[in-house]
Amino acid sequence: MAQQEEVFKKLVSHCKEYGFVFPSSEIYDGLGAVYDYGQMGVELKNNIKKYWWDSMVLLNENVVGIDSAIFMHPTIWKASGHVDAFNDPLIDNKDSKKRYRADVLIEDLMAKIDDKIEKEVEKAAKKFGESFDADLFRQTNPRVQENVAKRTEIHTRFAKALNDGNLEELRQIIIDYDVVCPISGTKNWTEVRQFNLMFATEMGSTADGAMKVYLRPETAQGIFVNFLNVQKTGRMKIPFGIAQIGKAFRNEIVARQFIFRMREFEQMEMQFFVRPGEELQWFEFWKDRRLKWHKAIGLGDKKYRYHDHDKLAHYANAATDIEFEMPFGFKEVEGIHSRTDFDLGSHEKFSGKKIQYFDPELNKSYVPYVVETSIGVDRMFLSVLAASYDEERLEGGDTRVVLKLPAPLAPVKLAVMPLVKKDGLPEKARQIIDDLKFDFNCQYDEKDSIGKRYRRQDAIGTPFCVTVDHQTLEDNCVTIRHRDSMQQERVAISALRGIISEQVSMKNFFKKITE
Ligand code: GAP
Repeated sequence: MAQQEEVFKKLVSHCKEYGFVFPSSEIYDGLGAVYDYGQMGVELKNNIKKYWWDSMVLLNENVVGIDSAIFMHPTIWKASGHVDAFNDPLIDNKDSKKRYRADVLIEDLMAKIDDKIEKEVEKAAKKFGESFDADLFRQTNPRVQENVAKRTEIHTRFAKALNDGNLEELRQIIIDYDVVCPISGTKNWTEVRQFNLMFATEMGSTADGAMKVYLRPETAQGIFVNFLNVQKTGRMKIPFGIAQIGKAFRNEIVARQFIFRMREFEQMEMQFFVRPGEELQWFEFWKDRRLKWHKAIGLGDKKYRYHDHDKLAHYANAATDIEFEMPFGFKEVEGIHSRTDFDLGSHEKFSGKKIQYFDPELNKSYVPYVVETSIGVDRMFLSVLAASYDEERLEGGDTRVVLKLPAPLAPVKLAVMPLVKKDGLPEKARQIIDDLKFDFNCQYDEKDSIGKRYRRQDAIGTPFCVTVDHQTLEDNCVTIRHRDSMQQERVAISALRGIISEQVSMKNFFKKITE
């Protein structure tokens, strides 16, 4: 774990050093849990958003997109339940005066026990070699059994406390299992209290009587309140989906782990409207589809797992998370929720407008049910970077830091480098860029040795480097160097577009999603 934390720290500084992510307002000492994306970061982020958007609206003819405003009528947040129930259970340590989310303290406790179990199994696997039977060991080893029982007990109490909204019991679990404050090391805890996560501001001048409005905590409500607009103007037939990418804001109290939990972040959400009674089958469809979307980019299938929810929101009849193995453990990147007719039904009630769909096949009107897929852009960004960051030991003892980004997501697709800054080589390199720059994001680099230039491109994850040398002027051939294998080959300039397109096209991902 310590080693993982070390790698994570290096990743955070790498993000800053190479223009991926900067702390917000840095010259004023930063602003907690708010970050800016730099020149490389914005390209990677845009590529992630394009991958998601196209996979929704190009791959599915019954999914269309919208872009709704961040400000919305305040009653929307009453109808959605956010005013009354969008809370985190908070607890303070009286000695350190630090504030924590009680549910996160308990989740961390369970994760520590899981770690202990896995370490025990790994140790035994090393000791017993090939004959080791991990399942049998888990079932029979007394220390593993003891930890499994402890974890099950905590989990049962935790799930019940969350379901019952029992804040005292959450505190009791923290006390019973000796959870201490990481800063003070003491168990001197306050009561657990609920804290609403929405940011509020005012619209209009006070003379007019300003209206309290919220910065949206999710993009989904912008989709629900536009359901009829899109259905009618797009002549959409159920089942159909509405997709949206946009900013969301939450006053996270325990904001940590870099861009994993931010106060201003971005979501990619799709609400899929279906006939009542068909929602669970669509839930399974989207659960499967979304995992395929993640796996298609090739970060490693073992890095993903589903986490089905123990505690269902009162309006949901199924919910699961797709978790990714971050450097700090498996964490939620996306949620897939079967939200029944709660949202549309509630907006019908609060707005007094009929929000229904006339189903010509059934010859009746109903409030559609909804299956939602909701993924955080920033968490996706973090998972891609974390899995791609590598410190590779080279022959001769050198280390190269390389981002092995999936080529279609890489910020820069190719760097073109004249071997020397004279003899017409820079001009030839520029010609190549002029020919390719409308197809791919290209970079021109003539500074320092070729070796140093390769390292710079490795550090930002550029899949191809193209070197122009004196021979190029005679035979119109260049050396292309592949980032991951570091293999170099001599190819005709006229072949570059084809070689690069094949690797960087998102079609490679889309085929895997639908196969
Ligand atoms: N409309 C449903 C919804 O908002 P959620 O589970 O609260 O569900 C969906 O959020 C996704 O948004 C999460 O899986 C996560 O990727 C992202 N997300 C939520 N809060 C976040 C935060 N504070 N910082 C970064 N990403 C966040």
